[in-house]
Amino acid sequence: MTKNLNEIPWDDFYKLTHAEKAPYLIDNARPMHVLFAQQFDRQQLDSLGSLATGVRFIAKSEEGMAFLRGLLAHKRAMLYFSQPSTRTFLSFYAACEILGLGIGEVRDTATSSEFKGESREDSVRTFSSYFDLIIMRSEIGGLSERVAWVLSNTDRPVPIINAGSGKDQHPTQALLDIYTLQRSFEERGGIDGKTIVFVGDLARGRTVRSLSSLLTRYNNVKQYFVAPAQLQIGEDVLAMLKAAGVQYEVSDSFEKVIPEADAVYMTRVQDEWDTQKGESGKIDTSKYCFTVQHLDLLKPDAVIMHPFPRRNEISPDVDRDSRAVYWRQMRNGMWIRAALIAAIFDRDDQIRNYYSKNI
Ligand code: CP
Repeated sequence: MTKNLNEIPWDDFYKLTHAEKAPYLIDNARPMHVLFAQQFDRQQLDSLGSLATGVRFIAKSEEGMAFLRGLLAHKRAMLYFSQPSTRTFLSFYAACEILGLGIGEVRDTATSSEFKGESREDSVRTFSSYFDLIIMRSEIGGLSERVAWVLSNTDRPVPIINAGSGKDQHPTQALLDIYTLQRSFEERGGIDGKTIVFVGDLARGRTVRSLSSLLTRYNNVKQYFVAPAQLQIGEDVLAMLKAAGVQYEVSDSFEKVIPEADAVYMTRVQDEWDTQKGESGKIDTSKYCFTVQHLDLLKPDAVIMHPFPRRNEISPDVDRDSRAVYWRQMRNGMWIRAALIAAIFDRDDQIRNYYSKNI
């Protein structure tokens, strides 16, 4: 049931659990704000996945693209990225173009009035004066929640999508990861019952945190966390999995775990979060890289994923293997983000109708 964000003081809202916050982020059962992965349930994940597939197939033809471009031609989206991004920025940009939205952007606060001392909150309120949707990436954890609450107390409470915040959340990356798993296991009974192995910098990888929590929506999924001790997954994630009754294991032995994996999810060292310059460089991560030799250990129908950008944790020689789905995973981001925006603006039924009549 929908609850109104403007009816709860910020200090009270902030203290709520994710489950308690979720009803404040919907509008009549459809997503309004997208702030953290935990707000999505299984039914919404299935629905977004099928909608993304609809968009993907419709976009294959000129007529289909003309239909999609007409859906939201009366709307404008603001891309506010104060942290570097390639895939998230461009896939949202492309998703907006597919649906016909006009696009504005700030990618460097040195070029906006934040340079003159304007607060983030005033900046976002300014964007809401000109745009109908704000998609934002920030180095500040929780900022998207804060601005969604701030806007709810104005006469322009436009939807906010968190495109990555601090070390805590990257909900739309988790959605595209789930969509990639849905597609990969389409003919193997879906995601239920699969074993997902997370590898690399799990302590500071927000994509892993978001995906790990979304995987709890599926039955009998086992999660492995493989990393050197200094980069191992946080106790809060393990406590969340324990509370959800999910099977998990923490390990430092990559080669031992590979044969069990249905999906291996590699991540890079996130040294931009080092508290002391160069501290990550002292950690030996050489055992946590995927090489061509590891392909022999991997099940024939398993998949290798990576949110990207990558460094040396997957050899480019692995790219040619059909189990390496990370380039497809990246493109899936465009489809699921288009589906999400369409759902926010109540265009999902039109897409499903077009798909069932024309594809
Ligand atoms: N996966 C991801 O968030 O990539 P970018 O940082 O390039 O957006």
